[in-house]
Amino acid sequence: MCGIVGGISKKNITPVLINGLKKLEYRGYDSAGIVTLCKNNKLNRARAVGKVVNLEKRIKDKKTPMDGTIGIAHTRWATHGEPSSRNAHPHICNHSVSVVHNGIIENFLELKATQEADGYIFTSDTDTEVIGHAIHQYLQDSESLLEATQKAILTFKGAYGIGVISPKDPGHIIATRSGSPLVIGISNKGNFIASDQMALLDITKDFIYLLEGDIADITLDSVTIYDKDGNQVEREIKTSKLKSGQVSKRGYDHYMLKEIFEQPQAIRDTLESRITKDSVLLSAFGYKAEDIFKNTKHIQIIACGTSYNAGLVGKYWLEDIAKISTHIEVASEYRYRNPIILDNTLFITISQSGETADTLEALKALKKRSKGKNIHTLTICNSAESSLTRESELTFLTHAGPEIGVASTKAFTTQLVSLALLSVVMGRCHKQVSKQQEAKIVDGLNRLPGLIKQTLKQEDQIKELAKTFKDKFNALFIGRGTMHAIAMEGALKLKEISYIHAEAFPAGELKHGPIALIDKDTPVIAIAPNDRLLDKLKSNLQEVNSRGSQMIVFEDEAAKITPMKGMTIVPTTTDLGRITAPIIFTIPLQLLSYHVALIKGTNIDQPRNLAKSVTVE
Ligand code: AGP
Repeated sequence: MCGIVGGISKKNITPVLINGLKKLEYRGYDSAGIVTLCKNNKLNRARAVGKVVNLEKRIKDKKTPMDGTIGIAHTRWATHGEPSSRNAHPHICNHSVSVVHNGIIENFLELKATQEADGYIFTSDTDTEVIGHAIHQYLQDSESLLEATQKAILTFKGAYGIGVISPKDPGHIIATRSGSPLVIGISNKGNFIASDQMALLDITKDFIYLLEGDIADITLDSVTIYDKDGNQVEREIKTSKLKSGQVSKRGYDHYMLKEIFEQPQAIRDTLESRITKDSVLLSAFGYKAEDIFKNTKHIQIIACGTSYNAGLVGKYWLEDIAKISTHIEVASEYRYRNPIILDNTLFITISQSGETADTLEALKALKKRSKGKNIHTLTICNSAESSLTRESELTFLTHAGPEIGVASTKAFTTQLVSLALLSVVMGRCHKQVSKQQEAKIVDGLNRLPGLIKQTLKQEDQIKELAKTFKDKFNALFIGRGTMHAIAMEGALKLKEISYIHAEAFPAGELKHGPIALIDKDTPVIAIAPNDRLLDKLKSNLQEVNSRGSQMIVFEDEAAKITPMKGMTIVPTTTDLGRITAPIIFTIPLQLLSYHVALIKGTNIDQPRNLAKSVTVE
């Protein structure tokens, strides 16, 4: 989604900003732009539709060099107004205020009407322009850009991360956030801002993470922060453990493929220091976890997309292993409902980024609604310094490492591992898990990296199968139990990156409607673990086969599916349990969608219309 980079340095700021924008490309965008305050104290702007390389060309072609030491830049993912140069950020008001903005100003139509009446001219269709105009208006009777921005943000409703510069107050960048992330990078080369620390890792590892409502006045050698009430505050400087090299393809053609192959290590990292040889450490969930888990009577999971699919598997495990009633809902629905909140509910949010607006807002809304009730919150998240970890009482980090491909892969399997660990400790707190059961699950988890490595060896076979999808427009995924959730994840992956319309159904539900979709041009992908529902699934496969569909069945070797006409059976490793099976069956589905997308020639790491982290509604 949209990305912000800005900075003030001793040297020309343009290369830093362009490098930062490139690091943010993975988040998804459709135009990019930059403004620097040049040596003549004038704002100099370049904007381009498409990739950052187009912007670089624009900069080279400019008559006035972009030689300023202070500047702001942006990658835009269109919300209000089409992707075009005129809608790209930064926006400039009356040659004297330039802004970049992530988020949405919800009352922008109202503000626009007033500003138009005051004589302001709008040159784009974005909501962002009202920010520049508002700051410009307040600047007329303010002593500084900081003061003008402080006054302006009081008029905004919605979410924002904003960077502002002005020739009226040169030498200062003002940065503020509410609902959208923004970090300040501190270094002896200068001070910088970004919506994602990834953008600045080549320059610094030292970051200040602004809190909700904070506003920062940044100069070459100082950072002064005020909280939402205008009080000057100190915010801790934290050193990031991320390395800039982690954000590279390391020889793979795509980040997605690299991340699929990183899963054995990612899972090892998730398990490290969270288990002993035969048990799960409760302390991995935080020192308050034992009390909270022992008193938990209900669980409500809230998440979006792939993280929601992980939560669905978690629901099965939590009910099956810990015997705690568990509900799950997509965050965009949960946040606007009036759900009944019961005492002793543990709310679990799951998120790779920790910044998904729907999930974050659902969490904030439920905390407000449940005032006076005994509820607790846990986030399973891949980003230590994220809004979700800050909003949650307990945090469990998935330790998947940076995930750059828009299609989530290693984040998903590490979320599953985390949910398995949670199910075990929750079960232990409720005396539902014996020592032997726990040891068996831990053993399965420990075997996962090896099992995944083995499954990844099937890539060539899956590459061949992918050819089946060359001219297909639809596909159906089926599974039963946790495999329904895995089928959903398989369908989501396929539609995201190959643009093939794919749906997933519980196999037993086919006969209630979806079976009407089956024809020879709609391949059906089935997942067949060797579990207690195997015979039921076998009947479902017969139903599909007798309607002439092409079928691909990923089976546990021990399932011994009877071959049928038009059916390709891909045996995966055998002896999978209720925890290992969903994780292992995810791997061939990831590889399948990757290779179908490769054949289709789509932009695998940055599929059309999608963003890595969805920070707007
Ligand atoms: C996954 O492939 C998707 N790109 C998307 O569904 C994603 O999982 C969803 O937007 C939630 O993101 P989060 O995990 O960062 O909260």
